[in-house]
Amino acid sequence: MLLRLLGNLLRRAPATRKPPPLAADPGVAALLQRAKTCYAAGEMSEAIALCQQALAQEPGNAYARLTLVRARMPGEIYRQVLRRIHEHVRPRTYVEIGVDKGDTIAMACPETLALGIDPAPKIERPLTARTRIFAETSDDFFARHDLGMELGGLPVELAFIDGLHRFEFALRDFINLERHCSRHATILVHDCYPLDAATAMRERMYDFWSGDVWKLVVCLKKYRPDLSIHTIGCAPTGLAVIRNLDPASALLPERLREICDEFIPMPFAAIESRKAELLNLFPNEWSKVRALLSPA
Ligand SMILES: C[S@@+](CC[C@H](N)C(=O)[O-])C[C@H]1O[C@@H](n2cnc3c(N)ncnc32)[C@H](O)[C@@H]1O
Repeated sequence: MLLRLLGNLLRRAPATRKPPPLAADPGVAALLQRAKTCYAAGEMSEAIALCQQALAQEPGNAYARLTLVRARMPGEIYRQVLRRIHEHVRPRTYVEIGVDKGDTIAMACPETLALGIDPAPKIERPLTARTRIFAETSDDFFARHDLGMELGGLPVELAFIDGLHRFEFALRDFINLERHCSRHATILVHDCYPLDAATAMRERMYDFWSGDVWKLVVCLKKYRPDLSIHTIGCAPTGLAVIRNLDPASALLPERLREICDEFIPMPFAAIESRKAELLNLFPNEWSKVRALLSPA
């Protein structure tokens, strides 16, 4: 639903279709109508200010948040960036945690051996002949299967973590994937650049929610300074690119409990005023992103 709204922001609605109301309250709807006009005219600071006014009155308004992220994070959205990464890297193997309708795992190249993990997949996209979906949680998958065997003895070359939006789940996914990665592999993590406190919390308050996955960046920077971590500023909630992986590293699994105790209670306020710096924000420009992906 959110991605459909985001797509609508980028396209012109057909003239015959009545647009859905932007807000139930007419005053908020009027603010958002003005924000929409400003956004279309490229007047981003005005659009941002109007969306903030609308959110002050209606904190759960998804249209206001989506307009805000598009105004603040211009350029391609994460799926477009992901498609470029697939086409550029053309990995032999790809693992995606959290596939939902299949929109992103469907981007795997025909030659890529792709594996998707999701307890409730609702695949609507045609997948390549070399794609398999495992209908289980990622924790269950890694407990029951040997990922290396499932990939025919090949290491993971590209992975995308987009499952449960909680820090400790993303951390375990990272640990479980890294041990199967090649040295030149890339792990991508969605939702590492949250918009605001209300959507960066562990509990979901609104439709627009990225959870506390952002803590993974803060955690890895502290405990794994050997990793290369960049968070592309693509809408709606950023995409972390993690490289220089070390499949032999045992530090994270060995200190898992201590790390969870440290990061699970961390509030968004701990990073809010220095979000770009602490989350390693990286420009959403393909020429620069591509350079991150060159062999280490
Ligand atoms: C945001 S959706 C994924 C969207 C997809 N990657 C895309 O971009 O189109 C998150 C998915 O994570 C799945 N999920 C929830 N808990 C999970 C878990 N423990 N392990 C793996 N996937 C999980 C949900 O079923 C949901 O389909």
